[in-house]
Amino acid sequence: MTRAWKRVPFLRWSFWRMALGRKHLRTAWQVGDGREERLAQYVEATARRGQLDDVIRVIDQYAYDEAFLMNVGDEKGAILDAAVRRAQPRRVLELGTYCGYSALRIARVAPAAHIHSVEFSADNAAIARRIFTHAGVADRITVVVGTLGDGGATLSRLRSEHGFGAGVLDFLFVDHDKSAYLPDLT
Ligand SMILES: C[S@@+](CC[C@H](N)C(=O)[O-])C[C@H]1O[C@@H](n2cnc3c(N)ncnc32)[C@H](O)[C@@H]1O
Repeated sequence: MTRAWKRVPFLRWSFWRMALGRKHLRTAWQVGDGREERLAQYVEATARRGQLDDVIRVIDQYAYDEAFLMNVGDEKGAILDAAVRRAQPRRVLELGTYCGYSALRIARVAPAAHIHSVEFSADNAAIARRIFTHAGVADRITVVVGTLGDGGATLSRLRSEHGFGAGVLDFLFVDHDKSAYLPDLT
């Protein structure tokens, strides 16, 4: 059971540490204190291998007990789950993988889906891939390192290497850089 105060980010040092590291966060997209790498180690050491539910549980536990994470979290995650459940997608595109938490939630409620997740940071992508492998879903979630705003390189790879094209997408989850939302969608 998570203690109620841990659900209030302002009451946690690890949230303020993230806020103080805003400049680093906006360029590297990691907090700068190693919490993302520690998360991967924590999952590998603590969560039952091949158990998707348990990996999601352990990431939530880490985010409450060890260090605040900029993922969708369990409360907003339930809203995401409901939307995915309604759509029952087969092909999902996510913008913004971070450590893979939201992609894991999508994989859990849409067992027939393949998820492609576009991530700016190669370091975050590597961490997410480790976690997907531990959860046993690496064959269902593909991380594509890049951005839709990179002049067409990532879009072109999505088309040529990953089969994207008009009419193939069932569900889009946009959770990357707020300043890129509109440019990336137009
Ligand atoms: C809020 S986090 C994503 C959280 C993740 N969706 C989750 O809930 O587990 C934002 C992520 O978007 C990535 N990012 C930032 N700008 C991006 C861009 N233009 N394209 C793709 N990814 C981007 C960052 O590196 C970061 O990992």
